[in-house]
Order: sequence, then structure tokens, then C-alpha cells
Amino acid sequence: MFTVKNEVKLKEVHEALLIGIFSKNQKLTGFTHELDTQLDGQITELLKEGDISTKQQTVSKLHTLGKTPIKRVYFLGLGKEIKQTFESLREAFGKAIKTISEAKVESFAIELDSFKSDGLNTYDVAHAFGEALALSSYRFADYRQKSNEPEKKIEEIVVYTEESPEEVKASLTVGFAYGQGTNSARTLVNLPGNMLTASDLANYATELGKKYEFEVEILEKEDMEKLGMGALLAVNKGSAEPPKMIVLKYQGREDWEDVIGLVGKGITFDTGGYSIKPKDGIVGMKSDMGGAAAVLGAMEIIGELRPEKNVVAVIPSTDNMISGDAFKPDDVVTSMNGKTIEILNTDAEGRLALADGITYAKFHGASYLVDVATLTGGVIVALGNDITGAMTNNELFFEQVLEASLEAGEPIWRLPITENHKKRVRKSLVADLNNSPGRDGHAIFAGTFIGEFAENTPWVHLDIAGTATTTSSHNLGPAGATGVMVRTLATLVERFGETNE
Ligand code: BES
Ligand code: ZN
Ligand code: ZN
Repeated sequence: MFTVKNEVKLKEVHEALLIGIFSKNQKLTGFTHELDTQLDGQITELLKEGDISTKQQTVSKLHTLGKTPIKRVYFLGLGKEIKQTFESLREAFGKAIKTISEAKVESFAIELDSFKSDGLNTYDVAHAFGEALALSSYRFADYRQKSNEPEKKIEEIVVYTEESPEEVKASLTVGFAYGQGTNSARTLVNLPGNMLTASDLANYATELGKKYEFEVEILEKEDMEKLGMGALLAVNKGSAEPPKMIVLKYQGREDWEDVIGLVGKGITFDTGGYSIKPKDGIVGMKSDMGGAAAVLGAMEIIGELRPEKNVVAVIPSTDNMISGDAFKPDDVVTSMNGKTIEILNTDAEGRLALADGITYAKFHGASYLVDVATLTGGVIVALGNDITGAMTNNELFFEQVLEASLEAGEPIWRLPITENHKKRVRKSLVADLNNSPGRDGHAIFAGTFIGEFAENTPWVHLDIAGTATTTSSHNLGPAGATGVMVRTLATLVERFGETNE
């Protein structure tokens, strides 16, 4: 994919070359300067006239008409250097790559150093470029007869830099792995419920485990019954599909301690059960395994990069259906940790699946927990579609998750858990907990409920109901699944405990 070269060789033939241009200091240097000379100062002139735009995310194309071995030059406007961030650069790269691939160019070169700024060195730039390349070229192979005619894909990229080619290549590869892990999660979320059952998800995880030598454990219904996973089993009762509890273990340290548990909601379709969803609300519920997808995408990155950390991924998976056997409001179920739950709403099924998922992650030695779930419509009302809702029982651990999310460019915002929320979740005449205390601030009740199972283990809850999918295409991907939180989770694992060591 990437060939990194040190020397500036303007004799090499390329279909296209990508160069970054900031709005100030347009004095051309290095590569761009030489190209300008070859083109008799045309670049300088076009910049002066404004025909090459330096405005952020604006792409200007210059055809060299045979004057240089490079056929076309794409200038990517980067705006003010001081304003450049990893995120803005990644997005600008997305725009440029989209433009170049729409021109049906299959290979191109990039002058990487032209994108570096005070805040971002060439290695950061390489990471951003690798990530943007994977993300922006993502397509879901859908089921339209016509749409799957093979597309021209960018196959090869020559990267010019004055920095160490090996290290630049390593950064490009890391970025690309982050993008690919995100894309895998997108595909899982985009798959409809009839094509991705709990068994399919378990098979996918098993294959991933084989590829990266993770320890894999798939619990069957009978295993769950033995372990007393009454909460997950209740959700599965109305289904024709067997439930699966999926576990992947990655041991990057000598001892199995300081284990990060990643728990993802894996509801492959959510009808709401007997508290059935209205016909408009049910469409799109194939995405109710977005948390599971985020965890699996992160595990793919972890498998690629093999950090010296310990991780256990746990995915409770089933669909939430209706039948004569389905669980009902008023039912009381017993979860794996012994707590009993009064069911007030069968559509609040995610917290039930996660309750047993969290307990099982602890059983496997998780000393820190992050759960990711498309959990509540309430979080969308509170924070919209760009920000993931977060809750915690531990300030220090939350800080680490927050930092990872900032680095990954996936914003999260914290909601509180108060004693009153706990009281409401614990209010029941017949059981220890109820699964739906009310509509008022219900995103918080959902998080509070899960916290009852995390108990004293440091825990962060991420509600991605608003962020797992998008209705419009963007520079870093099409409409549909976003793969949100894949990069945050992988970054968290990579960086975990760095400040304490
Ligand atoms: N899967 C839904 C949450 C959801 C809603 C995800 C919209 C994505 C988009 C979840 O299981 C659910 O139905 N939650 C209920 C909770 C309520 C019953 C307390 C909700 O949000 O209405
Ligand atoms: Zn539901
Ligand atoms: Zn759900």
C-alpha cells in the first residue's frame, strides 16, 4: 500500500501528487519548490491569483499538461497553520482522498512534509493520513444488483518525506490499522439482522481470535443457564436464535492483572419485545449491536498493534423478539451476580444483557471496565448525534477514557449519577432492581443500572445510541454506521496507565 521514499525524485512518473498548502508563508520549499521550477513558476502565480485555494479542506487541481512526469497536482488547502489539529487534518485528508478517487486515480504520491505544522510532526501527519485513507474509502458492499460492480480503488501510494522512511511507514500503518478496525465495525453494524445473528457475531469473533491468537470462549445457552445468566437469557426468551456470550482475551503482559474489560451490547435486532417499538422507531434497530462492533473493531486494532496490555472483550448477544415464550413486563429475573430484576419494560433490554456481560468480564478478571452500547433514545435527546454520552463511578479512570476520546477525535460528554438515580433504580416491591424507573432522564437510569453490576470496579459507560450511525455521508465515510468508539477504545488500551508508569 505505502512506499515511503526519502529523496525527492521529480523524475518519477505519477498519475497524481498531493501537496498541502497553508494560508500564510506560501513560500514554496523542497519538493513543491522544485515542481514550481519545472512548471516555470506557475504554482507561485496561481497561488498569488487565488486559483490555488489555501482555504481549509479546499482541493485545487492543476494538470501539468506533460511539463512534468507528474500528470496532475492536487493542492489541499489547510487554512491557518496555528489552527491545524489532528482532527482537522484527518478530515481534510478525507476530502482530498475522496476527490482523488472520484477522479478514478488508482495510485498517487504525497509530499507528506508539506502537511506538518508546529503542533503536528510528520509522524502525526502520517498517522492522520493512514487513518483518513482507510476511513474515507470505506464502502458497504450492499445488496443492490447494480451497486457492486467493482470500483476502482486506490492501490498504491508513494509517500515522500525527509524523515525516517521506516518510522513514517510505521505511523502510516498504525493509522491505517485504526481506520480498518473502524471500517470492520461499520460493516458489522450495517449488516441487517437477518444476516448477522448472535451466532454470526460469535463466528466473526472466533475468526478474529484465530487471526490474532486471542483466547476465544463462546458460551452457549446451556452454559449461561449453568452460570445463572438470567438477565441475558430473559432477553433471548422470545427468540428463535440461540444467544451467545462472546469472550476474547488478549494478554500482552506476563501476568493477567490490570485487565481492561471491554463490554459491548450485542443486540442484533431490537423489536422492543412486548413493550414493542412503534413502527418508526423499530427501523434501524439492526444497529443495536454497535457496542459489540466497537469492541470487536478495537480488538482488531489491538491484534494488529499488540500493545503490552491485558484486555478481555465480552459481548452478550441475542436479538430481542416476541413469541409465546418471550419475557414480559412484571417478570422477575435473576442476574449472574445474584441481583434480582423486576422487568418494567422489555425494550430496556440492553442493560439486562450488559448486566451479565459486566459480571462475566469481572469473572474473567477485569479490573477496569468500559461498556459501550446503543442504549437509550434519551442520550440522543440530551446530546444529539455527534457526542457520545458517558457515565462513571471513578474520576481517574474517566479521565483516561476522556483523553483517549480526545486523541481519537470522538467526543464524549459526561452525565451524572446521583444517589437519587440509584434510589430509583433500586425501587421495586419484589426485586433488588427495576429495569426502567421512568422516562425522565432515562439515559442516566440506564447507566445507573449498569453501574449496579460494575460495583466497585472502576467503570465507564458509553452510550452510543446517537453516534453509532449517521444519516449523511461525510469526508471520512458514507451514511450509515460510523464505527464510533473503535478508535477511542483502542487508544485507551494503547495508552492505558502510561501516566502512572
Ligand atoms: N436500542 C434501544 C436504544 C436506541 C434508541 C438505540 C434509538 C438507537 C437509537 C434501547 O434498547 C431502547 O429501546 N431503549 C429505550 C429505553 C426505555 C425503554 C427506558 C428507549 O430509549 O426508549
Ligand atoms: Zn430496547
Ligand atoms: Zn436496544
